[in-house]
Amino acid sequence: MAVDILIGLQWGDEGKGKIVDVLAPTYDIVARFQGGPNAGHTLEFEGTKHVLHQIPSGIFHPEIKNIIGNGVVLDPIVFRTEMQKLQDRGVDAAQNLFVSKKASLILPSHKVLDRVSEEALGSGKIGSTLKGIGPTYQDKIGRVGLRVGDILADDFQERYDKLVERHRKTVEFYGQELELGEQEQNFFEAVAYLRTLKLVDSEYMINEALQSGKRILAEGAQGALLDVDFGTYPFVTSSSTIVAGACTGLGVAPKHIGEVYGIFKAYCTRVGSGPFPTELLDAVGEEIRQAGREFGSTTGRPRRCGWVDLPSLKYSIMLNGVTQLNMMKADVLTEFDTIQVCTHYKLPSGEITDKVPHSMEVGELEPMYESLPGWKVDLNKIESVDKLPEAFNNYLAFLEKHLQVPITIVSVGPDRKSTLKRETVIA
Ligand code: GDP
Ligand code: IMO
Ligand code: MG
Repeated sequence: MAVDILIGLQWGDEGKGKIVDVLAPTYDIVARFQGGPNAGHTLEFEGTKHVLHQIPSGIFHPEIKNIIGNGVVLDPIVFRTEMQKLQDRGVDAAQNLFVSKKASLILPSHKVLDRVSEEALGSGKIGSTLKGIGPTYQDKIGRVGLRVGDILADDFQERYDKLVERHRKTVEFYGQELELGEQEQNFFEAVAYLRTLKLVDSEYMINEALQSGKRILAEGAQGALLDVDFGTYPFVTSSSTIVAGACTGLGVAPKHIGEVYGIFKAYCTRVGSGPFPTELLDAVGEEIRQAGREFGSTTGRPRRCGWVDLPSLKYSIMLNGVTQLNMMKADVLTEFDTIQVCTHYKLPSGEITDKVPHSMEVGELEPMYESLPGWKVDLNKIESVDKLPEAFNNYLAFLEKHLQVPITIVSVGPDRKSTLKRETVIA
């Protein structure tokens, strides 16, 4: 058996949580492999909306094992609140959740470092979620970080104090003082709670499951264009958000990778700073934001909106070896007479390309569009693929022709049920 992987192909918030929840019943295990509480994955079913930050989106299926893998950065405080929220809704996540002992710990001081670092960047700030992601990954790579397994050691408090001392000096370097207040007590209470859960060597758990024929779905967080190597650096997150990150973030050898689901919106959004070639700063962008309710699931910030960008989608497909595409939020574009699709970029030299250049800054490239007729039909009301309007089918066919990967799922609403599976032949 193989590990299938689901990856966001844009700048995050494509709808990964929804599709993981839809696909989950065909898997035995769902695993997160990178990121942390910067993620906000929304699931809707039976009239209720759930937002998950660190817990995998298979958690609502008690028969499925959910794993927080070694590549994740875990904030015990946020985690405990998430677990409590689930408990309040009658979900006993402690039964089917497993946490890697090698996952990194986010300390309260990491969040302070995130803030002071952003403040020091001023107008050049990354627009981080301020959840401590960057500083925690820095400590991991710097080989001074703490991991979940460390909470079982007798000298955990000492190790914690030592790391916080380092952070104190860094905060002072920025001309500020490290004040943690009640966060420290909250942290130790949350750590005590974490100790009661199933802390595992998840790389063994996953590989043994593979050996015994179990099906595994790896759930990406963020999106390929936020990847620390291939995204719009430095306006990226601090982890490998692409398929390769699932290998290191779970301990899975590349030969075990199966299907790669690439998720994208029928348009495009981004939250935080950084280049976004097809961004619409006009009334059209505002209309998409309102129709798509494009406000962050983690920070509530308005998401920047624009048309779909094929060169960057092709790039993400290439980096991830995507085998199936899932188009999300198709219902949001109902009101538009015309839909624009960016097919190429024009560079300052005049060259026209469908490749992502080193810099995607505004002024460095100009998006070139093709216009397609809108469908003006509320797709949310459609219950089977054969009832989809012709203009919408033409949009799908146009994208498939350029991307050369089949679009096998079309999502037409936030609810689990608003999901159309399709079979397709690419022209
Ligand atoms: P994720 O981070 O990739 O899991 O995505 P988010 O949950 O942050 O953002 C996606 C948002 O779109 C959530 O509010 C979802 O409930 C919503 N959503 C997902 N699929 C659809 C869809 O097909 N149509 C509409 N209208 N909303 C959707
Ligand atoms: P999900 O999994 C959208 C963005 C932040 C910022 C940059 C760096 O819900 O799709 P960080 O806190 O990671 O250091 O912030 O990355 N970002 C996201 N944008 N969805 C996310 O996750 C994101 N996680 C981080 O806005 O621009
Ligand atoms: Mg999100």
